[in-house]
Amino acid sequence: MDEERIVNPEIEGQAEEKLEMSLRPTNLKEYIGQEKVKENMKIYIESARKRGEALDHVLLYGPPGLGKTTLSNIIANEMHSNLKITSGPAIEKPGDLASILTNLSEFDILFIDEIHRLSKSVEEILYPALEDYTLDIVIGKGPSAKSIRLDLPKFTLVGATTRAGALTTPLRDRFGIIHRLELYNNEELTTIVKRSSKILDIDIEEGAAQEIARRSRGTPRIANRLLKRVRDYAIVLGDGNITLKLAKHALNQLEIDELGLDDIDRKLLECMIVQYGGRAVGIEALAVSVGEEIDTIEDVYEPYLIQIGFMARTLRGRKALPAAYKHLGYDVPDEQGGVSGQISI
Ligand code: ADE
Repeated sequence: MDEERIVNPEIEGQAEEKLEMSLRPTNLKEYIGQEKVKENMKIYIESARKRGEALDHVLLYGPPGLGKTTLSNIIANEMHSNLKITSGPAIEKPGDLASILTNLSEFDILFIDEIHRLSKSVEEILYPALEDYTLDIVIGKGPSAKSIRLDLPKFTLVGATTRAGALTTPLRDRFGIIHRLELYNNEELTTIVKRSSKILDIDIEEGAAQEIARRSRGTPRIANRLLKRVRDYAIVLGDGNITLKLAKHALNQLEIDELGLDDIDRKLLECMIVQYGGRAVGIEALAVSVGEEIDTIEDVYEPYLIQIGFMARTLRGRKALPAAYKHLGYDVPDEQGGVSGQISI
């Protein structure tokens, strides 16, 4: 039997991941958007290279899918250094981190994704490592325990998090360079979609690229994912080329509306508008109502809904804003916050 032909979701997933990797820019010149970050990083990298020293530690924060991992790879390439990738939850014990640190070479870039999820005991190992490239190891237990200090190679930590607020102050203070990644505008996303189409050898109309961009909620990862799904429709229903008409049809089939909102976004907004009648809602209640984790709502859904002016975070909770009412076809409530809850046609 030809085992290669058995559909293995894991291998399929890997193929998708490989494709995703091929779309990622590998140097600052190719990287679209985040102009401020690029401008600053270019200077810091050039300065470190001229000094012949390791780049200062970098903290990148912002919503998922905006290119934190991509940027860490670019930093390593531009520094002509090696990149080692790990994540907060993967480093379970202080020994795990000690092993990673002692295996680094001079000027390596160590990327720790979800760095806010490091445990306290692991974090404490990291402080002296970041501050003066040393590792304090305790050998033995009780009165005979001995502490030894090892020198580490000069390395650069690039930490990434969706929630800078969840980082402890001592950890945050040890990053010399801190950048927040912003949601991309439609023009930047259109350029990214066109660039990805070229790499994937897809013919795409300008209007179709704009349409995909408009529905990607400011996020390149979503833009690239939608492009691949729209291509599937183009291959099956058309000649493989992505026209505006075909893109609109495919995106509607995917139930992504004109602003990129999906089922969960709509549920969130309707919870605030209908269930809570326009009053401020606690994040916990919203999470239960839509069946998502609080963190997911805060990291993934809210940033875009706030950016497009559909909801606000107030001291008393989350509230839907008039633009959301209009988009979903509800009457905008009066100033008291009452709402008919009826769809106006
Ligand atoms: N693909 C994903 N993110 C990108 C970016 N910021 N620039 C260019 N291509 C990308």
